[in-house]
Amino acid sequence: PCYASIEKEKTLAMIKPDGLLGNYTDKIKKVILESGFSILREMKVQLDEANVTLLYAEHSSRSFFHSLIKYMTSGPVFLMVLEKENAISDWRAMIGPTDARKAKITHPKSIRAMCGLDSERNCVHGSDSPQSAVREISFFFGEMPLTGQFLFPVSIHM
Ligand code: TYD
Ligand code: MG
Repeated sequence: PCYASIEKEKTLAMIKPDGLLGNYTDKIKKVILESGFSILREMKVQLDEANVTLLYAEHSSRSFFHSLIKYMTSGPVFLMVLEKENAISDWRAMIGPTDARKAKITHPKSIRAMCGLDSERNCVHGSDSPQSAVREISFFFGEMPLTGQFLFPVSIHM
């Protein structure tokens, strides 16, 4: 016989510097847990330019890239590995559109509507595909970070 099995999926979630500054971490974690995700790993780190350049490599030629690096290195970020069935697209749906100004109009209950400001300062990140999820989780939580660069933990909770 063949039984259907529920495949759990992992995704990387990040609370960006403006989310930490605004003290949204506990509120966001509460929403995550209430939505059925397990938080497998978490850590607060200060990203450097090399980390951000690798994380957002696909955007390195965009006009906003320099500003994005400045923003993403302006303070610590809070990283989480989330797990549940359909974690990747469910977390993306929960965070809402990239531009938080638009999110406030079209997705008022989304996390970016709650704590984001615009298309740069949008408070949270989520992996956009299974490939991105594997890459980003191993980038931050793998035994061998992709960069060869060290991450600087601010504090480790688990
Ligand atoms: P993108 O992958 O388009 O959005 P998402 O975070 O929803 O996957 O862009 C990655 C990040 O780049 C985005 O979260 C913030 C930054 N960004 C800007 O600063 N300005 C912009 O105009 C865009 C499109 C993105
Ligand atoms: Mg993206």
